[in-house]
Amino acid sequence: EKSGYDHFMLKEIFQQDESIYEAMRGRINAAEGWVTVGGMQDHYNRIANAERFIIVACGTSWHAGMIAEYIFEELARIPVEVEYASEFRYRNPIIGPKDVVIALSQSGETADTLSALELAKEKGALIYGIVNNVGSSIARFTDCGSYIHAGPEIGVASTKAFTSQLVVLTLMALDLAHKRGTITKSHFQKLISEFELIPQKVKSVLSQAENIKSIASEIKSASNALYLGRGYNFPIALEGALKLKEISYIHAEGYPAAEMKHGPIALIDMYMPVIVIATNKNAYEKIFSNVQEVKARKGIVIAIVSEGDTEIKKIADFTIEIPHTEDVFSPLLSSIPLQLLAYYIAVMRGCNVDQPRNLAKSVTVE
Ligand code: M6R
Repeated sequence: EKSGYDHFMLKEIFQQDESIYEAMRGRINAAEGWVTVGGMQDHYNRIANAERFIIVACGTSWHAGMIAEYIFEELARIPVEVEYASEFRYRNPIIGPKDVVIALSQSGETADTLSALELAKEKGALIYGIVNNVGSSIARFTDCGSYIHAGPEIGVASTKAFTSQLVVLTLMALDLAHKRGTITKSHFQKLISEFELIPQKVKSVLSQAENIKSIASEIKSASNALYLGRGYNFPIALEGALKLKEISYIHAEGYPAAEMKHGPIALIDMYMPVIVIATNKNAYEKIFSNVQEVKARKGIVIAIVSEGDTEIKKIADFTIEIPHTEDVFSPLLSSIPLQLLAYYIAVMRGCNVDQPRNLAKSVTVE
């Protein structure tokens, strides 16, 4: 049931403080100083000593995988490749017993992802699943894995499953980093203490829905939109653009902010909304100058910034402030305003947000 919300998607967006907490529950305890991801235990040595992680997924789950690449490499120093399941399957990939293949899937029924796993298993890789639907085909096929415990996701556009996937992936990275000794004890402790605060911070992001709705009404008639982000926020730009495309049918593209000058800058004029995810503590100056470049061409800048930001706020047309956090956790906060923005724009345009045209909740054909 929609529990008083107009759409399942809105309900699922607003559940994220709880669903994120559910994904963490029993897996982290900052007071006692530990993180443990149960699904890794039976094959821990093989996972911790893997030569490579290969993440396979589609759509929004693939975006979660892109962020995980940054997180695993930064914290656990394990090389990661992220593949569209459909591409991986058809290009005779180099893969063997020293690789761990991580499948990300909300439904656990995505045909392309399942076929990629069949191939990887044949070649001897260990298969780890991060799935929402309990007992689904992918969950049954894997050697080991973790459920994300997001609860049923009904809206075709994935929202809460995405943030829960990120939580599980981050916990895996923290667990591995701690045990492999790739981060110091004090850094580990600092990170896990901050991680436990995320559900509370998500609540504070959600409390800005009215501001986001009013921004939506300013840009709802656009025909195109550009999303820009750097580092951990680059995949968030891709995901923000996908959400807008799927449910409002506005053409949107996500780009690494610095790539803008290599092409997409030609598109910018006074009719182009540019959504900049600018919460990065690292590279703040760089992203500030990207915003200046957009403004110099009269683009409409909607900036997602950290609370208390003054510089970008001065030049952006609209800003959405989110609580400070470690850069590595920022996607969990910065993705939410983009979900809400897409939602409100789609509703204002009269679109069927829960069941967008041409799309199905699980794609069971290759
Ligand atoms: O169930 P899965 O996570 O395997 O689904 C993957 C994609 O089909 C899915 O994320 C799709 O892109 C959604 N419509 C995104 O909102």
